[in-house]
Amino acid sequence: MSISAKIVGVGACVPQKMVDNHMLEAIMDTSDEWIVKRTGIRERRLVTEETNTEMAISAAKQAMDHADVSPDDIGIIVGCTITSDFATPSLASLVQKGIGCGMAAAMDVAAGCTGFIYALATITSMMDTLGVDTGLLVAAENLSCRMNWEDRATCILFGDGAGAVVVKRSEENHIKHPFLRAIPDTDDVLFIKNKRNDNPWSAAQANDDISLTMKGQDVFVFAVDAMEKSIKHLEAAMGDTKIDKIVPHQANNRIIQFAANSTHFDKDQFYVNVDKYANTSSATIPIALKEAHDSGWLKKGDEVALVGFGAGLTYGGIVVKWAI
Ligand code: UT7
Repeated sequence: MSISAKIVGVGACVPQKMVDNHMLEAIMDTSDEWIVKRTGIRERRLVTEETNTEMAISAAKQAMDHADVSPDDIGIIVGCTITSDFATPSLASLVQKGIGCGMAAAMDVAAGCTGFIYALATITSMMDTLGVDTGLLVAAENLSCRMNWEDRATCILFGDGAGAVVVKRSEENHIKHPFLRAIPDTDDVLFIKNKRNDNPWSAAQANDDISLTMKGQDVFVFAVDAMEKSIKHLEAAMGDTKIDKIVPHQANNRIIQFAANSTHFDKDQFYVNVDKYANTSSATIPIALKEAHDSGWLKKGDEVALVGFGAGLTYGGIVVKWAI
């Protein structure tokens, strides 16, 4: 499938509060050395005052400024989050209100850490279906509120932040070969439960564990396989046109290294900023796109593969010809 659209603006917002590995050493039995060796993570940003919605709106406004579009140009907003401040309305509707956009379609897509890839495929398809020229895609995550801070193997991995892109329909096809896959998580390796219904007649306990629960080694094995499959699928779909660069989901530097080893790509072709922000779930890829663009690492005309994996178990990828 090919979609005639392109990314014309990027934005990102992370919380002010930086928490490095040494600060974690002070509150749990861990070490900077262990975390860096196993993950490549050195620090992360954690929400102290900001809200998920505020980060999303800030990232969205930046992306719109970059694209030079006004709120009324936007015909569809797609939000992407697993940690919204609200069960309803959607993140997209909260962003619509925050940016002052009077009329647009507004909806969310949830696919765990693969969310941005699913949502980019969704927004471009919906723009075609609805005949909309300009779309806004915002991913925002506030995962630190769903951590068990006594589970040292998990809580050290995640951070908070938001990223956004503006998408415009275009003559040339810049957003290509969406590859969206999911397999059932039969061993419950990665999930966050919501509070059960505890109405006065329900048998549910009020103290259900609603923190992120993960079997790290199982997720690692899945992730390595998912990244390899996604990259190889996109390469095959591109035919004679080569992929120049890869912006992967930023979960763990070792997973990215494995992906480089199992494909013919050099590690230098992968953008990596997991050292600074840790895993911000669906927001890792747009935050990375913003940084990679601003630093000049991404260049106009680059064929860039976005690849990811996450709870579900979902995985997949999409190719973006960088247009800005
Ligand atoms: O978007 C999806 C996100 N999820 C992921 O990316 C997770 C993928 N998985 C991983 O990255 C790795 O499995 C982890 C980094 C989570 C863990 O690394 P590992 O090499 O699989 O470690 P392990 O769970 O086998 O634990 C090895 C040792 C254990 O000690 P013993 O039993 O050997 O004495 C753990 O208790 O490391 C210990 N350990 C820690 N030590 C210091 C676990 N967490 C920590 C910690 N600091 N934070």
